Amino acid sequence: MRLVIKNIKSLIQVEDKARLAVCGKDMAEVRSIDNAFLLVEDGVIKDFGSMETCPNADKEIEAEGRMVLPSFCDSHTHLVYAGSREIEYIDKIKGLSYEEIAQRGGGIINSALRLQKASEEELYEDAMQRLEKIIRYGTGAVEIKSGYGFTTEAELKMLRVIRRLKENSPLTIKANFLGAHGVPLEYKNNIEAFVDKIINEMIPKVAEEGLADFIDVFCDRGFFSVEQTDRMLYEGVKRGLKPKIHANELAASGGIQVGVKYNALSVDHLEYTGAEEIKYLKSSMTMPTVLPGAAFFLNMPLAPAREMITAGLPVAFASDYNPGSSPSGNMQLVLSFACVNYRLLPQEALNATTINTAYAMDVVDNLGSICKGKKANFYITEKIPTLEYLPYAYGENKVYKTFLNGKEV
Ligand code: NIG
Ligand code: FE
Repeated sequence: MRLVIKNIKSLIQVEDKARLAVCGKDMAEVRSIDNAFLLVEDGVIKDFGSMETCPNADKEIEAEGRMVLPSFCDSHTHLVYAGSREIEYIDKIKGLSYEEIAQRGGGIINSALRLQKASEEELYEDAMQRLEKIIRYGTGAVEIKSGYGFTTEAELKMLRVIRRLKENSPLTIKANFLGAHGVPLEYKNNIEAFVDKIINEMIPKVAEEGLADFIDVFCDRGFFSVEQTDRMLYEGVKRGLKPKIHANELAASGGIQVGVKYNALSVDHLEYTGAEEIKYLKSSMTMPTVLPGAAFFLNMPLAPAREMITAGLPVAFASDYNPGSSPSGNMQLVLSFACVNYRLLPQEALNATTINTAYAMDVVDNLGSICKGKKANFYITEKIPTLEYLPYAYGENKVYKTFLNGKEV
């Protein structure tokens, strides 16, 4: 079936040749075609160009002066979880820090206890609803982590839920095994034993069942050390899992360096990143990823996104959708945060949430731009005056219609 979208006011983020990532000053450029068409065949982008050359198709959709953009790729979420944590949010307002809440058995531990009790069905239904919501806000691909399990059984349950989501959602989904997300209370005084369990029991089972694409570790002060991270990544990589690391959110943890050592796809958070870390990243293929929702929600210092771009690095921005530090998967809001708080230009923010996040979740050959041969995941905007209006009009949904795999959803 051939579908054509006609009279597009501006077709944004077009590429003749798919790039791997957009770096440094190139991030300020987004190529677009005014008064354009987009042709889709069998779920794939077949052609695009100026309306003067618009071909015939089986089905035509009139964009009537609206814009078309490639769907967002959200390369960092924890959107399978049981129950919300607004009570801790009040503790936070009253002045407790994220680490203090975690030390009292709140935070990730609280989510883990609830997840252990939840049924696979409940988790699946709740997560599916969240997926439906993020589709409405323009997301077309999402990475989802485990990490609220703490036991082998509950981690496998989470990953099986993600597998079912992969099978049944029109979104492109990648699964990330984050066994080392927090330390269960019974291992509080023996973290090494928990790390051993992840290495000897969890990773082999996850790999055998083919339940994950990636492996992640929360490598930070009060969570897992560089040495522990190194041991877990070694085992994960050996079994074919690609690393993505939670690094430098609470301190200059060395997480970036260990991520680069294992050729991680991305290192994420990065609030505590200096010249030394930037130098490491420069010599790597690892995507620095900023999670502005978490920094906003926890009132944290901001990752040095501008410094990284000036240094010639690519930068990605993702939602970190999770119940503790970023209870929103709205990537349009991520665009606004990127512009307002990190002073990215709208074009830089768009590159950071499409091509660069596609790289960070290993789908850039197939998603992240309007390029012939890529999967037809895109959205038509409401009638908006300019591309800049997208981050500018924050809090309002600017998506009119979404298409995934070439079909309206
Ligand atoms: O990315 N930093 C670690 N993990 C999550 C928070 C998860 C939670 O608080 O439930 C994050 O922010
Ligand atoms: Fe996270």
